[in-house]
Amino acid sequence: MTEIEPQPASEGRPAAPARHDHHRAPLVEGIGRYQEDSIVPFSTPGHKGGQCVDDQFRTLLGAAAFAADIPLGGGVDDTHFHGDSLGRAEALAAAVWGAERSFYLVNGSSAGNHAFLLATLRPGDEVIVARDLHKSLLVALILTGARPVYVAPRLHPRLNVGLGVVAADVDAALRDHPAARLVALVSPSYCGVPSDLAAIVEVAHHYDVPVFVDEAWGPHFHLHPDLPPSAMSSGADGAVISTHKVLGSLTQAAILHLQGSRIDHQRVAAAVGMMQTTSPAATILASIDGCRRQMALHGRALLERAIALAHDARARLLALPGIEVLDAARLGIPALDPTKLVIDVHGLGLTGFRAEAELRDRFGVQPEMSDLVGVVCLVTIGDTTASIERLVGAFTTLATERRTVVDVGAGFLARSSGAAIAPGVQALSPRDAFFAPSRVVALRDAVGEVSAELVIPYPPGIPVLAPGDVVSVEKVAYLEAGAAHGMYLSGPADPALKTLRVVAS
Ligand SMILES: Cc1ncc(COP(=O)(O)O)c(C=O)c1O
Repeated sequence: MTEIEPQPASEGRPAAPARHDHHRAPLVEGIGRYQEDSIVPFSTPGHKGGQCVDDQFRTLLGAAAFAADIPLGGGVDDTHFHGDSLGRAEALAAAVWGAERSFYLVNGSSAGNHAFLLATLRPGDEVIVARDLHKSLLVALILTGARPVYVAPRLHPRLNVGLGVVAADVDAALRDHPAARLVALVSPSYCGVPSDLAAIVEVAHHYDVPVFVDEAWGPHFHLHPDLPPSAMSSGADGAVISTHKVLGSLTQAAILHLQGSRIDHQRVAAAVGMMQTTSPAATILASIDGCRRQMALHGRALLERAIALAHDARARLLALPGIEVLDAARLGIPALDPTKLVIDVHGLGLTGFRAEAELRDRFGVQPEMSDLVGVVCLVTIGDTTASIERLVGAFTTLATERRTVVDVGAGFLARSSGAAIAPGVQALSPRDAFFAPSRVVALRDAVGEVSAELVIPYPPGIPVLAPGDVVSVEKVAYLEAGAAHGMYLSGPADPALKTLRVVAS
């Protein structure tokens, strides 16, 4: 059997059992068992335990990586999923992250966003959506045909950083749109700013509307009291976390969590099965399982260290002339993910893009992302005093080489400019615009037209234009200036964004 649906075995699974042995890791153990049994595979994958792969690639990854690359059904489990390793592993994860039911994802939080919305919305349904939504939530809107009612995140008046959506705005949106079926938001934001989830959940539940949180950047929140409250602990009905982003699992690993009775858990289970590959990598699944065990047994101590390292790095960077680092006090908010270092370098006379290039080329330091005004660096459970020294040392050198400070247009082009995240006017649903006949126009001539494309400066992956949006003068000006300064744009057919596809009238 080459293709096996991973989900049916877990459908109908009871909620997590009362007792959990977090020393066990069913999927990790399953890979070990397969190897101990010295199985001769007449099944996928075709490299058969690394017998026949490119030599350089095998040398880079090591033989063990191929020996572990086995299927879930017919590998970790038998072809009938007897033992349901995945289901047992997911139940353990639900217990750690405070969910009633959890699903392991091998295509990142993106797959969780797609699956959750597909399971909860129908074509034409209204959904209240935070406008700083990630590309994957927008794709979920295209898949479902739902009609977004965008709620703009508040902006810090001076620093121009998005502060998340507020409960009062969600309340107003729900009052104006009583037929809305779901509230979907991103928290924390890319810069680590959490929304007041408990207040938003309270408002939404007052209208009996479920809340889904794209918590891709907050998989650690549930696991340490010094971090902002998690979506599950705030009462959200669903949340997706990217364990690969800041915890110890492999790239693409993520978990979708559910709780409460407002969501049909079986329908979500079916949607997860539909949105994922039918051949999930056991290595990615087992890496989530191992991450769960690690966090259940040692998470608090590991996060304690990461938070302390991040505090140390933040304080030392802040002491350097010309460098600013975001913190909750500067933003005037109660909490910020302390492990995310959002570092402003324009006081050094550098753009963030230039700083990223210098950090990598001269100091062997790779930030998570850069924009016009700064860089974002992640401090995780994988950091050590040595890695923090390297980071701070590199910035110390850059700070001693201060160049002439030039106006990089920070007020206009900063991380979450008002023009970038303003909901604007929607003429069509994302799905109708995506499938409508379109034509190509010069970007400037697109003002007043209806965008047929996604235009997303990436990272952080926030759509400036979504299919169905009426293109405004401000958005065109923002995108033109961004493109001129080297901002990487994802989505448009013309990557240079000289032209845009608009709905043919
Ligand atoms: C807010 C947000 N949601 C979802 C995603 C998608 O996560 P993944 O890469 O795990 O699919 C990202 C990725 O950067 C993100 O920033």
